Amino acid sequence: MNDRVIAIDGPAGSGKSTVARRVAEALGWSYLDTGAMYRAVTVRVLALGLDAGDAASVARVAASCVLGVGERVVIDGEDVTDRLRDDDVNRAVSAVAANPGVRSAMVERQRAFARHQDHGTVVEGRDITTVVFPRAELKVYLTASDEERARRRGDEDPSSVARRDAADRGRTASPLRQDADARVIDTTDRTVEDVVEEVVTWAKTLS
Ligand code: CDP
Repeated sequence: MNDRVIAIDGPAGSGKSTVARRVAEALGWSYLDTGAMYRAVTVRVLALGLDAGDAASVARVAASCVLGVGERVVIDGEDVTDRLRDDDVNRAVSAVAANPGVRSAMVERQRAFARHQDHGTVVEGRDITTVVFPRAELKVYLTASDEERARRRGDEDPSSVARRDAADRGRTASPLRQDADARVIDTTDRTVEDVVEEVVTWAKTLS
């Protein structure tokens, strides 16, 4: 067991997933993509024919599902990895993620994941620095200009990205916000390697 955590938050297209995965590789730590968890629950909700806004039913799915998030994402026995970024999921995920019942079920699983790793965990999402791991030893907030973030999200319509960002920032339950202790990196004009190196350098000064 090892509950060391590097927490990374930021909006869509800020580079969280790529940076978090590479930092984890560089340190030999585990990596957890919490967005994939909200997306997987959304896929399941849609497959069950539920309305994403039906808070009680959606929260029940989140609390009772069997969810595995790694190289592949599997929920209730179905590999949904290739469904996670489909348009219908992009449209419904904000409502699912704004549901307090869904959030408490996911946050509990995220903390359990980190507790069970042999080394530390790099965790990324929208509320990781602020709510899930407020005592993480390193907190990073990634940003990028709106234009650059839209460019990186090539296959998602810019208006869909903007709607998701607005919903993530404006919701009552754990909105995306920059934690006061987070180190901020604007990734707009920087390479992935450069950003990864900066985070790894910070991480090494802590250990
Ligand atoms: O890759 P991208 O940043 O576009 O999105 P993602 O990380 O896959 O997350 C998808 C959606 O899940 C976000 O738009 C949020 O609504 C939600 N989410 C969240 O609420 N909390 C998290 N810790 C991670 C994702």
